Amino acid sequence: MSVLVTGGAGYIGSHMVWRLLDAGEKVVVIDRLSTGFDWAVPSEANLVVGDIGDPDTVGAVLREHAVQSVFHFAGSIVVPESVTDPLGYYLNNTVKSRALIEACVDAGVPHFIFSSTAAVYGTPETAETVSEDAALHPESPYGTSKLMTETMLRDAASAHPLTYACLRYFNVAGADPAGRTGQSTRDATHLIKVATQAALSKRPFMQVFGADYPTPDGTCIRDYIHVTDLVEAHYLALQHLRSGGDNLVANCGYGHGHSVLEVVDVVKRVSGSDFEVRMADRRAGDAVTIVANADRIRESLAWTPRYDDLEKIVTHALKWEEALSRRNT
Ligand code: UFG
Repeated sequence: MSVLVTGGAGYIGSHMVWRLLDAGEKVVVIDRLSTGFDWAVPSEANLVVGDIGDPDTVGAVLREHAVQSVFHFAGSIVVPESVTDPLGYYLNNTVKSRALIEACVDAGVPHFIFSSTAAVYGTPETAETVSEDAALHPESPYGTSKLMTETMLRDAASAHPLTYACLRYFNVAGADPAGRTGQSTRDATHLIKVATQAALSKRPFMQVFGADYPTPDGTCIRDYIHVTDLVEAHYLALQHLRSGGDNLVANCGYGHGHSVLEVVDVVKRVSGSDFEVRMADRRAGDAVTIVANADRIRESLAWTPRYDDLEKIVTHALKWEEALSRRNT
């Protein structure tokens, strides 16, 4: 019996593959390598290069590998891109997820764990932390495309023998502490990735998008979660479902945030590089503060994060960025 990881050649998916192999699980990956890399998939896992929207490919993998659990990471993840290409996002994230869920139902796969996002909430109504019961008002096709998949899973699970977890990620960052994988995506836009690239002179400077927000230092606040703690939450969710636990929708964050300038300071301190930081206009669509209420995941899965420390997140991200330079990627 195997575990299927869609998008296993990508950033979070490749960390999940390593976590599953470390636990002695058999792993099969489906990835079409549009943004991921075949070298990111450890040789102990089976890699099938294919599309999760293709029922023949998925059906064959589910049967041939006797898949009992699916982690679904494959999808498009850039919020502004989803605004200019909404139909592309609904295709990749919603239509293809529907095909994948149907193939799983047809094959009788019992457990499905879905990579969702804090973007399903839109701009939080208060500056407090956001709990899972907050109103769902996605403000981009990206957020809507993920919420539609959550809804399909909920309804499919009430009609068929399928149990699921939807994990809503806040700002995922860092890399495998053992240096086996990390964020390798080309043209990444995420803050910690961009700042580590500036620290290593892969960019001439970085920009801070808006320093006039109503926060203590004027920059936006986010809840940065180490990717290793995130995949641990996924593994606990799998164990929860395997032992008969209820379906689960849960936030994945630490419950406290850091401003953009705090992140920049930590990257400068850890790297020892005083790279150029330019103050720029606000970026369209940025909410002031997005921080998780993480009570549910801590309580329902007994999740105890090990890397709730911005310095560790940055240290691991920087180490991976250096490794990528040696790889010439
Ligand atoms: N930022 C900069 N300069 C940069 C990059 C980012 O100042 O070069 C700022 C942004 O303006 C924002 C903060 O850093 O205030 C974080 O931005 P990211 O792009 O790293 O992440 P987002 O918070 O915009 O997006 C994240 C996830 C999305 C998810 C969203 C949910 O990456 O997938 O949270 O709110 F949808």
